[in-house]
Amino acid sequence: MALVTVPEVGRRYAGKLVRSLRDAGVRAARIEVPDGDASKNLRQAGRLFDAFLDHGLDRGSAVVALGGGMVGDLAGFAAATFLRGIAFVQVPTTVLAMVDASIGGKVAVNRPQGKNLVGAFHQPRLVWIDVATLRSLPRRERAAGFAEVVKAAALWDAALFARLERDAEALMDLDSRRLLPVLQRACAIKAEVVRRDEREGGLRMLLNLGHTLAHAVEALQGYRGVRHGDPVSMRLALPSPRSLQAPLAPPGTTRRLEALLRRFGLPTELPRKPRKAYLEALRVDKKSLDSRIRYIALRRIGKAEPVSLTAEEILPASWGRRT
Ligand SMILES: NC(=O)c1ccc[n+]([C@@H]2O[C@H](COP(=O)([O-])OP(=O)(O)OC[C@H]3O[C@@H](n4cnc5c(N)ncnc54)[C@H](O)[C@@H]3O)[C@@H](O)[C@H]2O)c1
Repeated sequence: MALVTVPEVGRRYAGKLVRSLRDAGVRAARIEVPDGDASKNLRQAGRLFDAFLDHGLDRGSAVVALGGGMVGDLAGFAAATFLRGIAFVQVPTTVLAMVDASIGGKVAVNRPQGKNLVGAFHQPRLVWIDVATLRSLPRRERAAGFAEVVKAAALWDAALFARLERDAEALMDLDSRRLLPVLQRACAIKAEVVRRDEREGGLRMLLNLGHTLAHAVEALQGYRGVRHGDPVSMRLALPSPRSLQAPLAPPGTTRRLEALLRRFGLPTELPRKPRKAYLEALRVDKKSLDSRIRYIALRRIGKAEPVSLTAEEILPASWGRRT
């Protein structure tokens, strides 16, 4: 078995995990990759393949990803392709990985042209969550994960949204009485959507609420210094494209979202870049169908739906003035 992690997380938790596996009679080789989304690439995947070979992994072996979504996606991609696919276990240690990245079986690496452009569907055999690991997670990282929880609530569950509005500060402080039910519900939403549409034929697309622009922001920043949840938050706080005709989300929806995201300490404004740069990044996004982009629009808190728009419709000429 191989345990893949990053130094920051490995230092704190890998020893304990390796020991408990050993106590259960399983030998696990610890393999570290450098921290940061810039490591989610084919070169690091190649290093993992070599390490798997060095450690004698075979078809009966498993890969355990210990860490955030970056490690999960990279180690999962390596597990999906090594010997045409071996077993994979997720041990997520960020809020984002717990409620989102570890569930659903999407694994991938980035290319300079865009995020997650090379990947596979490879379901983990097990997702094992220990919320105590969140104590060492910096607040900004916690907040970025809660951006995904806000997203899940906005598109699927108005009651969860209301709960987040009631308890935002307690959740950020990891008050376990409030945290556990919220994380459980967010995981259940992701699992429910994926169960109904594993291969993203329709429903699963909804999970991309806020992500079309978020991917553009990440690509424009070269994947450096951007927490995945930050641009999701920036987009969630933007009003829906004006060119979209009714029925749009009722007045006040954007303000409600923005207020909640701010309470989690999340940014709500996109980085200042020329509109042209955003348009180009949007067109590279893999969700483009010809020149149209499947964009997820919020109809009201608790309900979202896909619409087909051009990059220009998503970012109308008036857009630049707002940012
Ligand atoms: N596969 C999917 O369905 C899916 C869904 C959403 C996001 N993602 C991917 O997930 C990635 C983002 O995940 P992320 O936000 O977890 O980022 P990450 O994995 O880069 O982790 C963020 C930072 O937190 C540190 N960290 C992790 N756990 C810690 C802990 N318990 N204590 C202290 N520090 C800790 C990491 O070392 C890192 O510096 C992106 O690559 C994104 O594309 C995948």
